[in-house]
Amino acid sequence: MSEVLEVKLHDDAKAPQGQVSIRDLIGRMTLEEKIGQLQQLDASAPDLEETIRTGRVGSVINQADPGKVRELQRIAVEESRLGIPLLIGRDVIHGFHTIMPIPLGQAASWNPVLVEECARVAAEEAAQHGVNWTFAPMIDISRDARWGRIAESFGEDPVLTSVLGAAMIKGLQGERLDGAFSIAACAKHFAGYGTSEAGRDYDTTNIPENELRNIYLPPFKAALDAGVATFMSSFGDLDGVPASANEFLMRDILRDEWGFEGFVVSDWDSIRQLKTHGIAEDYREAAQLAAMAGIDMEMAGDAYAENLGSLVESGVIDLSAVDSMVENILQIKLSLGLFESVDRAEKATNVTSHADKMKLAKEAALESVVLLQNRANAQNRANAQNRANALPLSRDALKSLAVIGPMADQPYEQLGTWIFDGDEARSVTPLNAIKDYVGDDIEVRFAPAMQSTRSKTEDGFAAALDAASSCDAIIAFLGEESILSGEAHSRADINLPGNQAALIRELKKAGKPLIVVVLAGRPLTIGDILEEADAVLFAWHPGVMAGPAISDLLFGVVSPSGRLPVSFPKVVGQIPIYYNHKNTGRPACRDTVVHIDDIAVGARQTSFGMTAFHLDAGFEPQFPFGYGLSYSEFAYENLQISRDALPVGGVLDVRVTVSNNGTCTAYETVQLYVRDLVGSVTRPVKELKDFRKVHLQAGESKDIVFQLHTDQLAFFGRSKAFRVEPGTFHLWVGPNSRDGLQTEFRVI
Ligand code: BGC
Repeated sequence: MSEVLEVKLHDDAKAPQGQVSIRDLIGRMTLEEKIGQLQQLDASAPDLEETIRTGRVGSVINQADPGKVRELQRIAVEESRLGIPLLIGRDVIHGFHTIMPIPLGQAASWNPVLVEECARVAAEEAAQHGVNWTFAPMIDISRDARWGRIAESFGEDPVLTSVLGAAMIKGLQGERLDGAFSIAACAKHFAGYGTSEAGRDYDTTNIPENELRNIYLPPFKAALDAGVATFMSSFGDLDGVPASANEFLMRDILRDEWGFEGFVVSDWDSIRQLKTHGIAEDYREAAQLAAMAGIDMEMAGDAYAENLGSLVESGVIDLSAVDSMVENILQIKLSLGLFESVDRAEKATNVTSHADKMKLAKEAALESVVLLQNRANAQNRANAQNRANALPLSRDALKSLAVIGPMADQPYEQLGTWIFDGDEARSVTPLNAIKDYVGDDIEVRFAPAMQSTRSKTEDGFAAALDAASSCDAIIAFLGEESILSGEAHSRADINLPGNQAALIRELKKAGKPLIVVVLAGRPLTIGDILEEADAVLFAWHPGVMAGPAISDLLFGVVSPSGRLPVSFPKVVGQIPIYYNHKNTGRPACRDTVVHIDDIAVGARQTSFGMTAFHLDAGFEPQFPFGYGLSYSEFAYENLQISRDALPVGGVLDVRVTVSNNGTCTAYETVQLYVRDLVGSVTRPVKELKDFRKVHLQAGESKDIVFQLHTDQLAFFGRSKAFRVEPGTFHLWVGPNSRDGLQTEFRVI
């Protein structure tokens, strides 16, 4: 490459705060000091203090010991020539000390306010440790449950991910970046990382521009609109150009189209990895490609530090380009107020109490758990109102309870992935919480049955069956430990690991109501236990307050309100399976697929006889996106729209009456979907456009009103522009992506 990269400094560079003028500062920096600002080093890097002292580090990652951070900042501010403070980066993904549910669990709450509050507490705790920048939210659309990092995501839907991502950013960054407990957020991983082939982490991604723009990019645009300070490039090789060298993403879209003014950090060593990808001959070329693409800071590698100087000196990269990268970074340091004080949080007084944090953690866990199944059991004598369903359990009717399973009493495992600073000592396990709740009234017999979820022996089964047989009801805590999801922890088989399905078959022999609670970092294929289990609560990794939340749900103190942020496949071979798929030329539907002995063998009532489904799995997921049961029952009636036709730019009022016809107070998440029947490009069969989580007393009805603007119908079509295309739309309002009342309208 011989092209010279020249970039202009922002014309509208923000006015300097206090005494600091970024322009002036850049004017006084040597080239080496400039390149230093582009360097993020791990806290374990050799000679870190000396490197900071000589102005060759802009950011340090993975140091969250307040004393050590203070010392590093002191060296930067007092001993380096220009006194530029450091960005202290740390992965604060779902809590710092107080671990909240994993992001996928938080997504199941469908509650942006809750997500924001969780992030606020995380930011406060992190800021108190000197951290001023985090690498969250992860807003990669994730349609593949094999991918370990689905745990960090908000699931498969662009709108839900956009809303929750923006909420997390608001929580982390606060009202102002220089607030006492504000830390800079980072929208990651730009872009398309979630589609790595077969769910293998770091693998190739191939996303056509249409899908990239309609599905994968909207959450990033929403993050930008929410004021996110930084972006991180993805590890992925996107359509042949790894993200860290992808000018189309980083410059054309992020800077030129969207006008992003913050800075972009590479993912861990992903600049040097351009060589491994095979698009750079050496680290020098890798640095050149990344700088030209628009990566401002290098995380944990030294391609910039070693090569940018000579690239500038030899004229391959213009000094103005480096100045621009430095400016992007310094502007964020300025916005964070770091030039005025590096330890604002230490002086702050309005800290959240431990009790309030734990209360929030419990609320988040409560709202994230999804009730997937709840049905009659002939022997179900433990039921609250003598109704047929296995849940909720009745404290009055039970004399004894068997708590079984490898996930019942695991303070660490219930926290999930990415918990560098998580305090396991804060965890309350389900076993302990249940014992606490029932006190002396109910005898609790505990049998772990398996050493871990991966155990393959049946050694503990006899003791478990013995406990189960002697009790009035069984609660089995199954799932996967935290190590089975997260970065570089993908699985090819997403059944319950080890012998857990066999354990459930064994427990069934006790003939007692059998309630399964799954703790996991991803959707699992649990079809084989649905037959045996009378009720299934899917709890993800719920964080420190897993126990009290699950106990309240089991005993009906609170009704479950989580809704799936991602479709659950029946078998792994269905992946990718997602609700907002295209119709295809030969769509499968319930009326047309013929089943013989559980096998979908063909289609009737269609002229073509063959449709898009698997012989052995049909075409539907095990549980659809948006799905989740409650202890109450909700009815949807009177779906009305304000007009049948509206012009582009218009707003449609959508009104529906939702009634709680059950006997308990509960949340319902009212979901609005549309389908654009004809487009210049094929359109999804349904798209979530809005949702409202409402609290209804037993017997209460509420009119829910949505305002649907035609902008929400815009998409990237064949004209390569985002616009709404006039025509007919179907509209549904309902409890999940499968069910609901339907009407239609036109955009004219
Ligand atoms: C991950 C990022 C993370 C970074 C720093 C990388 O391996 O992909 O998401 O923020 O490490 O820990």
